[in-house]
Amino acid sequence: MNVLWYMCAPDGRYPWQPEGSRPVDYGYYRQLAQAYDHLGYTGALFATGAHDVWVLAAALLPYTERLRFLVAIHPGLIAPTLLAKMAATLQEFSRGRLMLNIVSGDARMLGAYGMTMPHDERYDMADEYLTIWHRLFAGETVDFDGKYFRTVGARLALPVGETIAPPPLWFGGSSDKALDVSAKHVDTYLSWGETPEQIKVKIDAVRERAARHGRKLDYGIRLYVIVRDTDAKAWEAANELYERMDETAIAANQKFVSNTDSVGQRRMSAMHGGVKPDDLRDLEVAPNLWAGIGLVRPGPGTAIVGSPDTVIRTLEAYREAGVDTFILSGMPLLEEAYRFGESVLPRLDVNRELPQARQFTWSTLFDRDLSKTAAG
Ligand SMILES: Cc1cc2nc3c(=O)[nH]c(=O)nc-3n(C[C@H](O)[C@H](O)[C@H](O)COP(=O)(O)O)c2cc1C
Repeated sequence: MNVLWYMCAPDGRYPWQPEGSRPVDYGYYRQLAQAYDHLGYTGALFATGAHDVWVLAAALLPYTERLRFLVAIHPGLIAPTLLAKMAATLQEFSRGRLMLNIVSGDARMLGAYGMTMPHDERYDMADEYLTIWHRLFAGETVDFDGKYFRTVGARLALPVGETIAPPPLWFGGSSDKALDVSAKHVDTYLSWGETPEQIKVKIDAVRERAARHGRKLDYGIRLYVIVRDTDAKAWEAANELYERMDETAIAANQKFVSNTDSVGQRRMSAMHGGVKPDDLRDLEVAPNLWAGIGLVRPGPGTAIVGSPDTVIRTLEAYREAGVDTFILSGMPLLEEAYRFGESVLPRLDVNRELPQARQFTWSTLFDRDLSKTAAG
């Protein structure tokens, strides 16, 4: 199984409050990357946030040896040929440790970058974008004349497919259109932390659509973890967070998430309804799965709560539903990466395999017609 840990600001003991936040800067990111690598996680998710993920990933590469970098991208914000070139470069420098997370964001956020397409059309655009991407990584010279993109003689100069394997594509999106695009183009379909029962329904839907393209995907989930020595202590820790969730913080987050066009976000919000009950256990939406974090945090808002045994049992419930990739986090990222990394991770069969470095010889170059490379 793949177990990744999260890599994105803000962070702290309760980062929705200024006094619960810590500065997240280059020095701290280096600590995170080195800790995750040392502890034995498969990789780290670089989500789109305050820091640019490409700069961040490139800057952290020298501090890691085996950690894979799952870098989030919004289709269409960068020209497909340029994005493929950036990815091929990082893939070469990291010896195959790059993976991309294809995310379609939401209208508000993308509007700030000048992308004003409505929700469903963004996925039509992503379909074209990923078509060009696949052809570039197949080593083709791409002349493409679509509705959203036009390329003339696009080609990657680096020896993709020979020494540089195409980075695996992962994907997050829960709308109907999202399921279609993932079925057609990506390797791993991701969901935010819905219950094992809910995720199974989604997996079945993606699986059926992927089969229509003759494809098979892997499946993953993004969750928080609150693990302590006993179940009681874990719920106490959850309660400490819960007590810090004041009405102002909840109202601010609910306002932020209420006018999104993201179906995935609406599904997360439905798990708590934006209301804080007196007893935190009223937000236990499945055994050991707590939806309370979603009150103050947009996006992934559910946590597995319990002892190491309970956490492992809950991960097993997801595995039975078809999930074999877990992208986890705790607050703070560093301390909880250690806690989980020492109490649970060694008991899991974690994938730490590195892709085989392929041989790069002069003949690799001679075999390619470099006159056709896009940018020399
Ligand atoms: C595991 C996971 C990670 C995600 N990471 C990001 C991200 O880094 N940036 C972002 O804008 N959206 C991210 N998203 C959200 C998708 O962009 C989101 O689902 C999007 O709003 C598409 O909406 P849809 O559910 O309506 O298809 C992520 C979603 C999942 C499931």
